[in-house]
Amino acid sequence: MRAASRYLITSCALAGLVSSTVADTWGPAFSLGPTKGAVIGTTTTFIPGNPPADAETGLYLWIGVSNGTSGLIQSGVDQDADNSYCGATATEWCLSASYFGVGGQFDGPYVAVSGNTEIGISYMLSGQTWTQTVTVAGKVVSTLTSEDGPLIEGGWGTGTECQQNCKGTASIQKYLNSVIYLSEPDESFLNTLGVGEGVEYTPMETTDGGQTWTIASITLPVYTAPPGNDN
Ligand SMILES: *[C@@H]1O[C@H](CO)[C@@H](O)[C@H](O)[C@H]1NC(C)=O
Repeated sequence: MRAASRYLITSCALAGLVSSTVADTWGPAFSLGPTKGAVIGTTTTFIPGNPPADAETGLYLWIGVSNGTSGLIQSGVDQDADNSYCGATATEWCLSASYFGVGGQFDGPYVAVSGNTEIGISYMLSGQTWTQTVTVAGKVVSTLTSEDGPLIEGGWGTGTECQQNCKGTASIQKYLNSVIYLSEPDESFLNTLGVGEGVEYTPMETTDGGQTWTIASITLPVYTAPPGNDN
């Protein structure tokens, strides 16, 4: 259902997300990159908040990692006017692992979740293979693999993607206990941070000289799409 509905973000675009179509707008983001070495993994807990009561196609909330030439690894939640494909009610999201690359959009299995669900998201690299693992209450609900290898000069960022008739979000979004794993220490990764208006966050921390970064809390504000977004 998410197929072809999402767009690749490049490492430079992570700081100010650029869209491919006029009717595609973006909520305020928290984004990092490019790193000096490579992004090789991340874990976070995502709480999407309640979806808009009047569902319109489509709203897509995700945490992304990519570099300028890779695909985009982007597990997260979707709301379209009809979310019955995942069995969601009007007050639920469709949740899945997801990847956008040269072959198009690929999604892992979908499940329906409510807005206050604590969604565990992990992207781990082994060899050239990235594995996305999405969990709810410790149970794996969706997985997906892709083959981009270490994301050299890669970035990490939140996506609040609002397409076609989307009017925006109805709730704040939270990312808790985010951890970003780099291939080598990069103390200056901190300085690549780009933060949209109204985004609140705790300071980025590292205890190993900049190879592993943690962010205890990121809160994205409610986003209202600008007029003209076909809405
Ligand atoms: C992105 O990472 C891939 C895989 O390691 C690498 O081949 C490619 O050169 C990187 N792209 C950029 C722009 O650094």
